Amino acid sequence: MNEKDENSRRSFITKVSRGLVGAAFIPGIVTAKDRKRNLEEMLRNGQKFGPNDQLQIALIGAGGMGTADATTAITVPGIKLVAVCDLYDGRLADAKKRWGNDLAITREYKEILNRKDIDAVIIATPDHWHKDISIAAMNSGKSVYVEKPMVHDITEGPAVIAAQAKNKVVLQVGSQGMSSLGNEKAKQLLKDGAIGQLNYAEAFYARMSPTGAWQYPIPADASPSTVGWDRFVENTTKRPFDATRFFRWRNYRDYGTGVSGDLFVHLFSSLHFITNSLGPDKVMATGGLRYWKDGREVPDVMLGMFDYPETKNHPAFNLSCRVNFIDGTGGTNYLRMVGSEGAMTVEWDKVTLFRNSVHVDANDPLNATNNNAPGSGKEFVYNRKAMTPPEQMDYTAEKGYNGAHFDHFYNWATAIRNKGKVVEDSLFGYRAAAPALLCNDSYFNNKIIQWDPQNLKVITT
Ligand SMILES: NC(=O)c1ccc[n+]([C@@H]2O[C@H](COP(=O)([O-])OP(=O)(O)OC[C@H]3O[C@@H](n4cnc5c(N)ncnc54)[C@H](O)[C@@H]3O)[C@@H](O)[C@H]2O)c1
Repeated sequence: MNEKDENSRRSFITKVSRGLVGAAFIPGIVTAKDRKRNLEEMLRNGQKFGPNDQLQIALIGAGGMGTADATTAITVPGIKLVAVCDLYDGRLADAKKRWGNDLAITREYKEILNRKDIDAVIIATPDHWHKDISIAAMNSGKSVYVEKPMVHDITEGPAVIAAQAKNKVVLQVGSQGMSSLGNEKAKQLLKDGAIGQLNYAEAFYARMSPTGAWQYPIPADASPSTVGWDRFVENTTKRPFDATRFFRWRNYRDYGTGVSGDLFVHLFSSLHFITNSLGPDKVMATGGLRYWKDGREVPDVMLGMFDYPETKNHPAFNLSCRVNFIDGTGGTNYLRMVGSEGAMTVEWDKVTLFRNSVHVDANDPLNATNNNAPGSGKEFVYNRKAMTPPEQMDYTAEKGYNGAHFDHFYNWATAIRNKGKVVEDSLFGYRAAAPALLCNDSYFNNKIIQWDPQNLKVITT
């Protein structure tokens, strides 16, 4: 721990143990400082915009997440959804029903990119289209919101980063949790030394339902005439029309990125944001297909382990991520960060901090003196009892909080208007995707992978 961290840790401990904690450390209270910070951020980001500042956006990939994305995006003042592209006619018809008859619909994403009146696109297709459509959109001068993981394969990241740099447009990757009050609070608590020195983090996703395990319903009218199958497989292995592959794409490696690309990636984004980390340097995974033997190519139980090296921003620590799609307890998700003096669970609208009620500092000289045996002839030391700090503190978002998804879109729209920065640009998005994609590579190739998160390179030995 460096001197700065040690000072902030001591300051946190002193405040807590003297009972002098400000509102910032009192359970259940979002601090006035938090509110002021959020307000200042909003004002700084500039809320004034005229009719010409309206952002016209289009959605490419109007399934579950794309629909949720567009629905949230249009709640940000000044954003208008004008067009939707999808490869299944049923989704296009739903989009018109949902957003009105004025909406342009198409199966052809290039039509959207050719429209001069569209400023930005949301890309919520299956993972294997993220890179190609993101790059084409940026080359057409559009700003991009692309769903996580930013890319489908570890080799694809640099091209997206280069396209963003070349076109100088905004690209936000859709790990919305990063923009949450919960992630911000965790970042602040870690910096303040609330859990001491971070040494371990763990994340868990458990589910027990067919849809939770990606067995989505297949529409009765699915056929080569209602689905743009040729486009779907245009950039991957060509196969005859297969409705199961189209609607349950997550189960197949040509299109999806398995449980790590789908779920672990959220944790990497949050963890990297909270710790200011660039990523792990060692990735190893195991797991298996235990239950959902429906022809899928990806495991339904997966364990990933990741070593984070010491950097100027954080000490070395280990991360363990688990997914279990056959968890008989019904399911839970969590991200827990453990330090030398406590731990915290991090949610998007809540952080729960657990601290040791008594902290014993192994290097404290007073402890050594206090250990004097009776009759040792050494000076008696009055070991006065202390006020014990609370062992658990809950930080919860204020009622009426718009949530992480809104915040992420707000951040995106503000960056587009002000030519500013987003919280998860292509470089950050690639660094979050990389360990998730390498976790798959480790699992399928049965080997430990060394990654250089600074230079974005797999190290081959
Ligand atoms: N941020 C989150 O919390 C979150 C949650 C769920 C999914 N996602 C991500 O969102 C993306 C979509 O997931 P989903 O659950 O919505 O899948 P989905 O199957 O419900 O939707 C995908 C849609 O994309 C369409 N499509 C496929 N290829 C296309 C193409 N080339 N052009 C236009 N449309 C195309 C499909 O017809 C389908 O309607 C994935 O990358 C996934 O990882 C993110």
